[in-house]
Amino acid sequence: MKFSTTRLAASLGLSLTLGLAAMTAQAAPTVIKFSHVVAESTPKGQGALKFKELAEAALPGQIEVQVFPNSQLFGDGKEMEALLLGDVQIIAPSLAKFDRYTKKLQVFDLPFMFDDVAALDRFQASPAGQELLDSMKSKGIQGLAYWHNGMKQMSTNKDQLVRPEDIKGLKFRIQSSDVLEAQFRQLGANPQKLAFSEVYQALQTGVVDGAENPWSNIYSQKLHEVQKTIAVTNHGALDYMVITNAGWWDGLPENVREALKKAMAGATEHANKLAAQINDRDQKRIAEAGKAKIQTLSKEDIAAWRTAMHPVWEKFQDGIGKDLIDAAQASNQPS
Ligand code: LMR
Repeated sequence: MKFSTTRLAASLGLSLTLGLAAMTAQAAPTVIKFSHVVAESTPKGQGALKFKELAEAALPGQIEVQVFPNSQLFGDGKEMEALLLGDVQIIAPSLAKFDRYTKKLQVFDLPFMFDDVAALDRFQASPAGQELLDSMKSKGIQGLAYWHNGMKQMSTNKDQLVRPEDIKGLKFRIQSSDVLEAQFRQLGANPQKLAFSEVYQALQTGVVDGAENPWSNIYSQKLHEVQKTIAVTNHGALDYMVITNAGWWDGLPENVREALKKAMAGATEHANKLAAQINDRDQKRIAEAGKAKIQTLSKEDIAAWRTAMHPVWEKFQDGIGKDLIDAAQASNQPS
């Protein structure tokens, strides 16, 4: 009797220990690191925070999303490798930064491809656009969503910035994109690939004379303080693909993956709704700051930029595929 009481106590003790261990195991949530290179006040910064909010609310205690803005964890050049190594689970590089993984996404960088963000949105939502989310699976990258930032504006440290010939001979910072490199060479300028975190200093110290950015990136990085003129060219798009490590994603329990997909859809809606507002707000803030002149352009000026840049399309057509270029172009017509 005494023996069995002791055994009972021991077995109760064991169960308690196991129970506590299980609770402790449950209490440690899976950490999802989301790293990006821009400020929290930008569309991407806001989208990442929304994803954290929605994902943690959908999977309470099961996951924790840690957001690292401003290249704090990984900057350009490192974040893609870090994703493939499993050191970060979600990143959202600009569509200009995928040259090494697929040539198809170069379609987004072709100058004057999209008339506006609405056209870009239609293309991203189309079957051709959605297929691109899976286009890097064989390289270990799964696309989860597109997020908008906005159209790019050309800026320089010169007073005159109206026509394409005004940037001849100038040095420009570009993202790591062969299309953007060709675009500036086509205009007789000298492009230099630089990480986003280095842009302000490169402009400030004169390493480069100019850059191309949407308003939200210009304002949040204070680039208008180190540029004299920003021309409203809207000559290209700067949007993002939110991506994850395909192996990690496929290995998640199905209920977790589904909940994260939903959270991503909510974050996408939020970021995309805010993108235009943030860029409008930041354009106004730049105008009010009065440091750089905002140069509006006539239809004829815009046509001159378009004509001067257009030969770039031809150079990249084979790599991208004519069908994809046609599909992107078709998105300029609202259906
Ligand atoms: C850039 O490098 O200019 C952009 O891709 C930064 C960003 O993520 O918006």
